[in-house]
Amino acid sequence: MCGIVCAISTEAVLPLLIEGLKRLEYRGYDSAGVALLNKNGFERTRSVGRIADLEKALGNGINNTSTAGIAHTRWATHGAPTQKNAHPHLTPGKLAIVHNGIIENHQALREELIKAGYVFNSETDTEVILHEVDRQYQLAGDLYEAVRATVKRLKGAYAIGLISSDEPRRIVGARSGSPMVVGLGKKGHYIASDMAALLSVTQDFHIIDDDELVEISDDGVRITDLDGKLVQRDVFTSDQHAGAADLGHYQHYMLKEIHEQTQAVSDTLEGRIAAERVLPGIFGAQDETIFKQTGAIQIIACGTSYHAGLVAQYWFEKFGIACRVEIASEFRSRQHTIADNTLLVTLSQSGETIDTLAALKVAKQEGVAHTLTICNAPESSLVRDSELVFMTHAGPEIGVASTKAFTTQLVSLLLLVVSITKHHRLSAQDEARIVKELRELPAIIDETLRREKEIAALARLFTDKQHALFLGRGTQYPIAMEGALKLKEISYIHAEAYAAGELKHGPLALVDEKMPVIAVAPNNRLLEKLKSNIEEVRARGGRMLVFADDHAQINQTKGVDIINIGRVDNIIAPIVFTIPLQMLAYHVALIKGTDLDKPRNLAKSVTVE
Ligand code: M6R
Repeated sequence: MCGIVCAISTEAVLPLLIEGLKRLEYRGYDSAGVALLNKNGFERTRSVGRIADLEKALGNGINNTSTAGIAHTRWATHGAPTQKNAHPHLTPGKLAIVHNGIIENHQALREELIKAGYVFNSETDTEVILHEVDRQYQLAGDLYEAVRATVKRLKGAYAIGLISSDEPRRIVGARSGSPMVVGLGKKGHYIASDMAALLSVTQDFHIIDDDELVEISDDGVRITDLDGKLVQRDVFTSDQHAGAADLGHYQHYMLKEIHEQTQAVSDTLEGRIAAERVLPGIFGAQDETIFKQTGAIQIIACGTSYHAGLVAQYWFEKFGIACRVEIASEFRSRQHTIADNTLLVTLSQSGETIDTLAALKVAKQEGVAHTLTICNAPESSLVRDSELVFMTHAGPEIGVASTKAFTTQLVSLLLLVVSITKHHRLSAQDEARIVKELRELPAIIDETLRREKEIAALARLFTDKQHALFLGRGTQYPIAMEGALKLKEISYIHAEAYAAGELKHGPLALVDEKMPVIAVAPNNRLLEKLKSNIEEVRARGGRMLVFADDHAQINQTKGVDIINIGRVDNIIAPIVFTIPLQMLAYHVALIKGTDLDKPRNLAKSVTVE
């Protein structure tokens, strides 16, 4: 879960390497480094901390004029986040490497290399690749051949970039299981973990597939397979531009992204609905044929995306189709039975989450009938590996805490529920009603966002607390889970979510004045039961914060604060009620002063197991 950027150019590469690292910081941010090649060999700078710390460490070197170099931002796996373990790693004088991924057979290779006389300077698995390339280089005398021979010996995941002082105008990359793109610029060629890293220099890319190598030089780009056979690859022109991921006037990306939800939801719906129906073909040309045969749904995802799947389970089953939802890391590593006519749905903002990719692979090996992904990254591995594809149009999400990716996933899932269950229990009137609600959704979200001041004021109740409970029923139970995840990941307050009916089966024992309880209370048939749960908490002196539908009629009394969210139809309520929970987590973290766009120990895209 690191980010790499490599460049060969006719102009100084340091500014673009640093800019690229800043764009990749979401992938990891515990240490960073850069190795620049000039006529005297490598100039390497590494530092613990953020890219800003690397810039400070570069000091006067910031004006370096080298036209070739490689750079890295790290999320530590093997070895602590120290300067010694930061990339790039170098052999004495000759080779430099950057690596994203995990080499599973590193221990065996390390022992072999130590026997061969290699000395290791770090605790990383990456240094094993470096020394093996060095060993192969001495045999082959050619960097590309040395890398090709090395990667055949690696087990695990990697996206690597290597440069040699013996061949200073050439960088060799290779990929298996970790993302890699090649940027085609006017002044040079580049390798990076994603396109966003290179948007300041190009919008034209080749996407590198697993088990491929790439060579960039002044002469151009050469892609091959592991046998050295040339691969022809189309140019992909991105419609993103460098400014799309800028902070604008917001203090944090998370806040910007919370506020972008009105537009993101509207963009996700655009071209997908007509007056009273969801359009056919929006999940792929074959979707109608596949959906007619679909008898069951299996959803697989991680983290926030998993919570979106849990909401969809209620929707699918309400309209007559069996749906199971499972965390990808569990699904991939257990035996299961999948019904014959199952549609496997993966959900992912990044499309690069390794557990989700592996779970998809397992399901395909087990012969699942059809696969569909709902994803926010068009050029991601998940999109390429899935039969049907639906893009959420959330735009770049930089904050590690997922916000607009979640609400647009829910919108996408609701479109999927309609498209499939109209072949089951969903009537034309139901479809028309859902489409009407979806059409009104952006305006309702906009209205909900206006509650921010009220929510920010209540956030003060939480800042001295160590724990919090979130309660919901029905589709709001996964929303309570999402609210708890947001609070814990950015404010570091321990938060748990419970289906409100479970309260008296254990967690009620925890409730006292030190344990705030947050409940989501839309106006549905479960409301009266939830009101009883609220009374149970109040009776035990617990402090409550309730996000309520205007119709819910829950009274503000001592110890119970109510925030009315408007009148929200039950079907879209989970989407709308997510927003105040995101804002609550944001404002608690803001008061606590955490690094809320880059919370400790986390990374935006989890590309390691
Ligand atoms: O890119 P994905 O949607 O596959 O990522 C899944 C999780 O890693 C992600 O949702 C994570 O839980 C977020 N940090 C939550 O805010």
